[in-house]
Amino acid sequence: MRLQTLILAAGQGTRMKSMRPKILHKLGGVSLLEHVYNLAKQLSDNQIITLYGHGGEALLAELDYLETNWVEQKEQLGTGHAVMQVADSINDQSTVLVLYGDVPLLKLATVNKLLQQVSDRSLSLLTVELEDPTGYGRIIRDSHGSVMRIVEEKDASPAEKRITEVNTGILAAKGNKLKDWLRKLDNDNAQGEFYLTDIIALAVNDGVDIDTTKPADRDEVLGINDRQQLAHLERVYQLNQAKQLMAKGVTLLDPGRFDLRGEITEIGQDVEIDINVILEGRLRIGKNVRIGPHTIIRNSAIGDEVEIMAHCVIEDAIIGPGSRIGPFARLRPETTLGDGVHIGNFVEIKKSSVASRSKINHLSYIGDSIVGAEVNIGAGTITCNYDGANKHQTIIEDGAFIGSDTQLVAPVKVARNATIGAGSTITRDTPESTLTLSRCKQVSVEGWQRPVKKNRS
Ligand code: UD1
Ligand code: CA
Repeated sequence: MRLQTLILAAGQGTRMKSMRPKILHKLGGVSLLEHVYNLAKQLSDNQIITLYGHGGEALLAELDYLETNWVEQKEQLGTGHAVMQVADSINDQSTVLVLYGDVPLLKLATVNKLLQQVSDRSLSLLTVELEDPTGYGRIIRDSHGSVMRIVEEKDASPAEKRITEVNTGILAAKGNKLKDWLRKLDNDNAQGEFYLTDIIALAVNDGVDIDTTKPADRDEVLGINDRQQLAHLERVYQLNQAKQLMAKGVTLLDPGRFDLRGEITEIGQDVEIDINVILEGRLRIGKNVRIGPHTIIRNSAIGDEVEIMAHCVIEDAIIGPGSRIGPFARLRPETTLGDGVHIGNFVEIKKSSVASRSKINHLSYIGDSIVGAEVNIGAGTITCNYDGANKHQTIIEDGAFIGSDTQLVAPVKVARNATIGAGSTITRDTPESTLTLSRCKQVSVEGWQRPVKKNRS
């Protein structure tokens, strides 16, 4: 193994004021720990070891699919103590990379830069300049600019507190060296903790150089301790994603009001996304697609030239090219629409396929159905797919015309080019190219009088 990555994630996260471990809180729909894990996963020949403490059960229940060695740090006696827990698993020859589970935006390029400098003669440390360094460990350099040690805020003198170069906590060192230094750590400091940061002075004592690297962007090394920081980094993260999309030729009417909680695996040119659109899970989006404001789309594939109007909720759906959806439409899981389908306002489709150029424009529920091509479904039509115990299928063949306010009591089939009269309750299969209707005869009652209000005197 070339590399061993330790993800320190045992801290309590008290300031989150949460019942859940801090690292399970989500950024862009993905837990903080997974962000760090996904980064580590991109490094080749790497063993990932995650140190956890609080909420171990919740953690393992949610994230047990991660390919990492989970090691419990039962008592959190400091970052040095955390690393001591896995000292026996550290190989002499490997490079050990230390990451924090609550620092989610670190980039691969920065880590690669850090790793390049590690050798038996050199430890690599990620530092950053902060206008307000309060709370962080300060980097102490000698008159030649060489790093000598790190002093924690609580142990720092007033002069040291004025130093603005701080420790990000992220570092890399050779396994054998690290193990040596860990054996020498003590907890003789203001917090009574075993500080990992004390290995810097020990390394310097050993004649090992401290090489510092800075991240390209400060946001990369920001940690999350409370909900304000979580919200702040969420916006940073979303803005980064928005910029990447715009770079690919997507118009975002307001990148500050765009949320992608997942991944767009493919997106065409000239897609236009209006404000407050939320995209979740995995999405494929064709070219020239327009997505109206306040729409939520999850795990779906959207063809070229599709227009989705305001206030739609779309989940696990496939939408064929040139289709028009909404406003106020709901596509539920397992909906498949062909080319040029129109789904209008207050229409709900569930587990159904609708073939090319069919129209369901107003106030309908279509569930468990197969709808053919060029079908027209009138306003207020519903499939009665559930008998209270089982779900049944409705089949509407090509070219059928379903009059408004029809109930199709499944299982039932409307054959090709059939016409159903408005207001019908269809309980049996209907023949091809024929008008079928079930409707009471209309009567007009001669001489009928409207009731009048009684005098209450
Ligand atoms: C640490 C550094 C400090 C640095 C800062 C950057 C030390 C002594 N100090 O301070 O120099 O500027 O990070 O954010 O290292 N953790 C464990 N087990 C423990 C303690 C911590 O796993 O016993 C984990 C936490 O979950 C967290 C990380 O280590 O992911 C850092 O812990 P935290 O308590 O936030 O360290 P700081 O005191 O902020
Ligand atoms: Ca911290």
